[in-house]
Amino acid sequence: MASADARARALFAARFGDPPATACAWAPGRVNLIGDHVDYAGGTVLPMSLAAGTAVAVGCAEDGVDRFASEWEGDASWTRYAAGVLQELRAHGVALPPVAVAVAADLAIGAGLSSSASLETAVARAALALAGEALAPDALARLCQRAEHLHAGVPCGIMDQWCVAHAAPGEAIRLDCATLAWRRVALPADLRIEVVDSGVRHALRDGGYAARRADVDGAARTLGVAHLARLGRARWIEIDALEPRIARRARHVVRESARAEEAADALAAHDLARFGRLLTESHRSLRDDFEVSVPELDAIVDGALARGALGARMTGGGFGGSAVIAWRA
Ligand code: GLA
Repeated sequence: MASADARARALFAARFGDPPATACAWAPGRVNLIGDHVDYAGGTVLPMSLAAGTAVAVGCAEDGVDRFASEWEGDASWTRYAAGVLQELRAHGVALPPVAVAVAADLAIGAGLSSSASLETAVARAALALAGEALAPDALARLCQRAEHLHAGVPCGIMDQWCVAHAAPGEAIRLDCATLAWRRVALPADLRIEVVDSGVRHALRDGGYAARRADVDGAARTLGVAHLARLGRARWIEIDALEPRIARRARHVVRESARAEEAADALAAHDLARFGRLLTESHRSLRDDFEVSVPELDAIVDGALARGALGARMTGGGFGGSAVIAWRA
């Protein structure tokens, strides 16, 4: 198959004709190694970028209105994300004329690999190139997150957009979502990361994601902290007094963020066995306490462990999507 870049340009020519696209940009997808459902609670996450991503070709729209075309036949939900980014760029003061946007992606929508942040970032980069302007990666990530909140209605955290805007191949990003302090973490050469798509599709808009976030925000309010994931260990005992469902959610958040930190340390110390164990613990917590896994993901995780994987877990928002498996290479 032609590269996403070439396909985006060809799609542009087929749908919008001449003149051809004047700018083209690409952004990767991401897989989160560990630290899920903690970014919006100020926790630590450890995502890495993927070789697969999204290419966007843009040109000036002949008839004065933004136009959109993609390879995702029959699914127009993505246009909300792309249109939202254009709107936010203009609100930010970028002098952007009406544009035609053609999208080609090597990422399936809803596979838990950040197709949305990849799309948002690629659209923003292409539109900025067309306008002859630039945004620093931090500002780009925040703008794309805002577009997702305001125009797609998903109250996501900052992990995906931050990773997509900053990550380079062969490394993970350790990000403290409370302070946005971050650093690159090299992946050991003898660690192989496999991503397996369960084929079960979620839509974060379906409400499960927002419901989990509301539980977490509620727990933070009750405990009187701005960032639940930063609740000091001495106070973890207070979680037991919360209503049972909220307590399970909160327990996941504080432990998961601590696990992500420990996993980053384990990678730095080249302790692959400990890294793998933490991944598997994370899965159990997302399955039992946070309740965002599905039987298909549980089966992929169990199967990988039975075949000798170091560790395995569902990755991303859950309710379907993908699993990430760590192997000793
Ligand atoms: C989605 C959101 C992220 C994050 C993950 C779960 O990918 O976009 O902000 O909350 O779910 O870790």
